[in-house]
Amino acid sequence: NSVRVKIPASTANLGPGFDSLGMALSLYSYVEMKRAEETTISLHGEHLKGIPTDKTNLVYKVAQAVFNKAGVHVPELEISMYSEIPLTRGLGSSATTIIGAMVAANELIGSPLMREELFTMATQIEKHPDNVGASLFGGFAVCAWDGNDAHHISFDPPEQLEVLVVIPQFELSTTKAREALPRELSFQDAVYNIGRTSMLVGALASGRYDLLSAAMKDKLHQPYRAALVPGMAEILEEAPRKGALGAALSGAGPTVLAFVHQEERDKHGLETYMVETMRAQGIEADTMW
Ligand code: HSE
Repeated sequence: NSVRVKIPASTANLGPGFDSLGMALSLYSYVEMKRAEETTISLHGEHLKGIPTDKTNLVYKVAQAVFNKAGVHVPELEISMYSEIPLTRGLGSSATTIIGAMVAANELIGSPLMREELFTMATQIEKHPDNVGASLFGGFAVCAWDGNDAHHISFDPPEQLEVLVVIPQFELSTTKAREALPRELSFQDAVYNIGRTSMLVGALASGRYDLLSAAMKDKLHQPYRAALVPGMAEILEEAPRKGALGAALSGAGPTVLAFVHQEERDKHGLETYMVETMRAQGIEADTMW
């Protein structure tokens, strides 16, 4: 028997919640897995080009980690994967691969591992909990990880919230975007971010759209990553005046995200503004709602 799972992409941080907040997006990857005589891996769709199809493949390796943890021996697998998610753009594509592989492998052997265990394992592989948490639990996920155990709470974001993502046509690795971060921060900036992050969680939980713009401000990572994403700083500053409820760098970037009220009349104006601002910096970008 074969197992098929559908996993959502995710956006992480949402401004101030660095390595803590994530949100699932309606953009998906699909992983299919079954036992086989000999391992075969087939990849479909333009976004998986160049990914290995031997046993160094991440889906295969993660599946084996699940089998090891569960004490089950399944050395050979038939794996098939399709993805709609652009790679290395800040949309959590690696997290969807890890979660897809874990959920499929666990299901294949009768689900011996609990979701919380999968979450901790996935976080240890990914090294931050926000994308894997959102992909695994869906909705809006608040995550905490101390290097060992990962904890989370998740809930559905308010219904009238729409998400616009502007995806620049260049890749930015998470490693490079993390290298741009400072080793130390001032106490003042830490306090600034705690206030915003807490307010953002409360605002999303209670539908306080009016607080989003203030709550999405950040001094912890976006200012340091601005140089890697031309046009971003201006967009984050201006987007609330162009119809966005709030805006942020999506994960480690380069995608930039805006929250928009479903009834906002000038959605198209906001979208054009964001694309044109990047174009003025020589960057072409695709958009998705
Ligand atoms: N929280 C992570 C970061 C997300 O900002 O580096 C990476 O997708």
